[in-house]
Amino acid sequence: MIKLGVNIDHIATIRQARRTFEPDPVTAASLAILGGADIITIHLREDRRHIQDRDVRLFREVVFTKLNLEMSIAREIVDIAIKTKPEQVTLVPEKRQEITTEGGLDVVSQKKVLVDIVKRLGDEGILVSLFIDPENSQIAASKDVGAQYIELHTGNYANAKDDISKGRQIKKLQSGVEIAQKLGLRVNAGHGLTYQNVGLLMESIDVEELHIGHSIVSRAVFVGIQKAVSEMKELIYKHCLQKKGE
Ligand code: PXP
Repeated sequence: MIKLGVNIDHIATIRQARRTFEPDPVTAASLAILGGADIITIHLREDRRHIQDRDVRLFREVVFTKLNLEMSIAREIVDIAIKTKPEQVTLVPEKRQEITTEGGLDVVSQKKVLVDIVKRLGDEGILVSLFIDPENSQIAASKDVGAQYIELHTGNYANAKDDISKGRQIKKLQSGVEIAQKLGLRVNAGHGLTYQNVGLLMESIDVEELHIGHSIVSRAVFVGIQKAVSEMKELIYKHCLQKKGE
C-alpha cells in the first residue's frame, strides 16, 4: 500500500499569522495520525515562517509513526536534524522569497557538499530523501551522493492545464521512477497533489510514499484534519486496490 505523508506546515502558518499558540500543529499531527497518516512531514525553514524549533522538539515526542523533516542543506538546520533524529529528512532547495518549494534540489551542482551531509545524517540512522525534478542527471547524482530515497517533484504534473501536457509530465515521471528503481533508489512523490489529481498519478507510477500538504489542510478547514486525512487515505487505498485488480 502506498504510504501517505501529510505535510502540516500550513497549520503553523495560520498560527504564525498572529504569533499566538493556536492552531497548534502538534495537535494537528496527532489528529492526522488518527485519520490514517503514515508519515508526518514538517519543513523547518531557515526563516521560521511556519514551523518553529519548539514544534520540532514536540513533534519528535508525539509522532510515533514516521517523522519526515523537510529542510535545506544549511548547517544550522542539519545540526537540528541530527539532534532531533527524525526517521527521514527530505532535502529541498530553499529561497527566502518563494511561497512554497519551487523546483527540485540541484544535486548535480552540489554533489560534494551533499555527499558529506547525506553521510552525516546516515551515520545517525536518518534516512535521506532528495526532492528532485524527474531528470536523469539529478536521479543519477542522487544515487552518487548516497541518498536512499528520491522524492519526485510532481508540481509540473499538478499544474498541467490540459490532457496533452498532463500526459507529457506523466511520461517524465514514469521514466524517472524507472531509472531510479534500476539504480536501487526508493521513490516517493509529492507537491501540488490534490483529491482530484492523485488518482491519475497513482495509476501511472509506482512510488512508496505520497507527500501531500496544501490540499489536505485546505479541506481540513471545512471538515477537520482527521476527516480530511482519512478521505485522502481512502482515495489512495481505493486506487491501490484498483491497480491490483481487486
Ligand atoms: N514535498 C515537498 C518536498 C514539499 O516541499 C512540499 C511542500 O511543502 C510538499 C511535498 C507538499 O506539497 P503540497 O503542499 O503542494 O501538497
